Amino acid sequence: MSTPIPFVTSLEAGPAADWRRALGAALPGHRICAPEELDADERAAVRVAVVANPDPAALAAFPALEWVHSVWAGVERLVGTLDAQIRIVRLVDPDLAQVMSEAVLGHVLYLHRRIPGYLAQQRAETWRQLEQVAASRRCVAVLGMGHLGQHGARQLGTVGFEVLGWSRTRRTVAGVETFGGTETLPEVLARADIVTVLLPLTDATRGLLDAPMLAHCKPGAALVNVARGPIVETAALLGALDRGALSHAVLDVFDTEPLPQGDPLWSHPSVTVLPHVAAPTNRDTASAIVAANLAAYFRDGTLPEAVDGARGY
Ligand code: NDP
Ligand code: OXD
Repeated sequence: MSTPIPFVTSLEAGPAADWRRALGAALPGHRICAPEELDADERAAVRVAVVANPDPAALAAFPALEWVHSVWAGVERLVGTLDAQIRIVRLVDPDLAQVMSEAVLGHVLYLHRRIPGYLAQQRAETWRQLEQVAASRRCVAVLGMGHLGQHGARQLGTVGFEVLGWSRTRRTVAGVETFGGTETLPEVLARADIVTVLLPLTDATRGLLDAPMLAHCKPGAALVNVARGPIVETAALLGALDRGALSHAVLDVFDTEPLPQGDPLWSHPSVTVLPHVAAPTNRDTASAIVAANLAAYFRDGTLPEAVDGARGY
């Protein structure tokens, strides 16, 4: 049996054990264990760890760590916290892209078909048919055209929406009008009826959608944030919703998770709150991907593509 591989996580004991079992089954011949199962010599020999949104401080127990493989796609908790020489590999899984597309489509259709308005009418026992715009006349912007954003943008196109895709560098995606760079964001926001956020949280995207940027949004536009809470400034968002400058926000992610009791977002009539469920990692497909990457590393030292520390994603 080779050097044990710690699975480091802030998950509770039950789900953590499920992960160790799934990873162990996908990687026979290797021992996937909880950090506390390792003695000092074993900890000193660890070169690679598998992580699920860990407390970065927990990785200090492994002084020879060369790289970590995350089973989450977003790794902002690790970037900038871990020693620069420790490579961070994040999850890139077609299953995750598919599941995220379902969330993006579901939330966009919920807004497109005016369900928040009908729910308000139901509470008031009002029977009134609201005007329905055709999908072809609805413009949906996807901010972040990476693994998840590109898949989501394509799926939105299949429904017939006009789709805009925005990223740091301009991408080419069939059926999507694409834009690159911060200077193009105001134009994208000004055209979109529904803005979907699928960006990583980095120094450049933290607070990107602040009051001045949100002011570029088309009057009455709606927002879907399935990326990370701090990309959208909450106070600015609430201000725009209260003024009616924005019509609704579907929020899957928050500055603090779980969203604290009593937070104004819980009860805001123009906010739909979801508990970070847009794209949960599929343990089986993710374990197979992690196992293949680890097997290649143990075979000949091949390392998968890692996060670019300077870009932060
Ligand atoms: P990728 O790294 O594949 O894509 C990131 C995209 O964002 C790229 O298109 C990139 O541009 C763009 N981008 C990054 N920084 C900037 C910037 N400053 N300005 C403009 N564009 C920028 O990430 P994924 O698609 O795999 O994941 C996106 C995020 O989704 C994750 O980081 C995570 O936070 C979130 N997520 C949320 C989940 C949930 O359940 N709510 C589940 C899984 C992920 P470029 O193409 O030029 O590199
Ligand atoms: C992820 C997430 O980043 O679940 O994978 O948010």
